Amino acid sequence: MGIMDANFIQRFVRMAHDGWVQGWHEKNGGNLSYRMTDEDVALIHNYLHTDGAWIEIGTTVPDLAGEFFLVTGSGKFFRNVMAEPDDNICIIQVDDSGSKYQVQWGLVNGGRPTSELPSHLMNHEVKKKVSDGRVRVIYHAHPANVIAMTFVLPLEDEVFTRELWEMASECSVVFPGGVGVIPWMVPGGRDIAVATMERMKRYDVAIWAHHGMFCAGENFDAAFGLMHTVEKAAEIYVKVRSMVPEKRQTITPDNLRAISDQFNVTLPERFLYEK
Ligand code: 13P
Ligand code: ZN
Repeated sequence: MGIMDANFIQRFVRMAHDGWVQGWHEKNGGNLSYRMTDEDVALIHNYLHTDGAWIEIGTTVPDLAGEFFLVTGSGKFFRNVMAEPDDNICIIQVDDSGSKYQVQWGLVNGGRPTSELPSHLMNHEVKKKVSDGRVRVIYHAHPANVIAMTFVLPLEDEVFTRELWEMASECSVVFPGGVGVIPWMVPGGRDIAVATMERMKRYDVAIWAHHGMFCAGENFDAAFGLMHTVEKAAEIYVKVRSMVPEKRQTITPDNLRAISDQFNVTLPERFLYEK
């Protein structure tokens, strides 16, 4: 078996390509990470090199000590991941203190993991805890319609959640917990990572104003499907607002309560306010 035959790598590569096809990854925009299982590590162990430098993450993630991640490279294009995976993605291990990482496979022509590694790893750390280890995928993309919404709506979790839920019947079922919104911040550092991690304690979606979105999922399909659903709702919102200043009719709070009964999801009442 070659390392590229490993199912988790194939799924990672396919998802990167799917994101490119959706138009969410201009140039090097966006990044993807997957927290590997013990079985994944055992499967590809012979391909790992442990003689590289240990490099500062830029934050600390003690609850991820020793864990392995498959991650996109910084400055690398999602467009190229499928054609040349070992040039564009890498496997890293976090050290015992949770403050450094080592590249153990990939990035064969040099480079380093995504500049958003602090956000990815802090999100993984908090999601691992609140999901009892089930969440393994963190996905960052630059979908245009969600970004457009951050120029016209108040940057409040309640407002974004409610508008997105109203845009299609499936939305409140796909993200019943709602979405978190973060005001514009400098990308790539610890501060935006901490702000995102705080939202990820209660949400699976964090919207970065004028930048993009982070989604968390138990597997690749869940994370991709979440990004796709939120962005589709945002596209409908942009179309509606482009046609009329105010909606003529919509999915009401009572409609949303009826959906929650039918689909057995709990929708927090703070999103069901009267307008
Ligand atoms: P990287 O190329 O370092 O992953 O950065 C892309 C990006 O989207 C930053 O927010
Ligand atoms: Zn970005």
